[in-house]
Amino acid sequence: MLSKALAAGSDLVITYEAADLDQVNLPIESFDIVYSSLTIHYLEDPRRLFGQVYNTLTSRGRFIFSVEHPIFTAPTDPSWKKNADGQVFWPLNAYSQEGPRTTDWLAKGVRKYHRTLETYISLLLDAGFTLTSLKEWMPSDEDLRDHPEWAEERHRPAFLLVAAQKVTNAE
Ligand SMILES: C[S@@+](CC[C@H](N)C(=O)[O-])C[C@H]1O[C@@H](n2cnc3c(N)ncnc32)[C@H](O)[C@@H]1O
Repeated sequence: MLSKALAAGSDLVITYEAADLDQVNLPIESFDIVYSSLTIHYLEDPRRLFGQVYNTLTSRGRFIFSVEHPIFTAPTDPSWKKNADGQVFWPLNAYSQEGPRTTDWLAKGVRKYHRTLETYISLLLDAGFTLTSLKEWMPSDEDLRDHPEWAEERHRPAFLLVAAQKVTNAE
């Protein structure tokens, strides 16, 4: 990921660092935006990270992230099924059982963590954030014109996109 980022942004002044998000210590009030794409569902407990992100943002700074949607991460057998009438469905179960899920995606035995929508939002609010936007990504009509193979993705959201802001009492 870092070598790809370096290649894509070689003309920009950006500092790249690799760090474990479970342990990272971010500088206080140093950034206007923190952005994370499809990574936080690999952390067992993002509570510490959310606190770090809050503290590293400047006043009114924004935290924007995407994760696999809880409806996507919950099932113990996360693959499309067909009922007797041939209708496709997503086998949602174990929604309340937060914790590890092991999948064979890109590599065998990849471990991610399921948590409910309530937990994601509570973690944000507990850290002090104000929720500003939430999207459950599913393909639009326009997306389907370009990618007809995404049609099944309309049965359930695969991605959760969240935007939050650091708004302190003094403001
Ligand atoms: C599905 S990839 C997403 C990559 C990229 N952000 C994107 O959207 O294309 C998940 C990424 O999470 C990273 N990751 C997982 N656990 C991590 C941790 N504890 N600390 C830092 N990165 C982690 C992996 O190295 C991997 O690059």
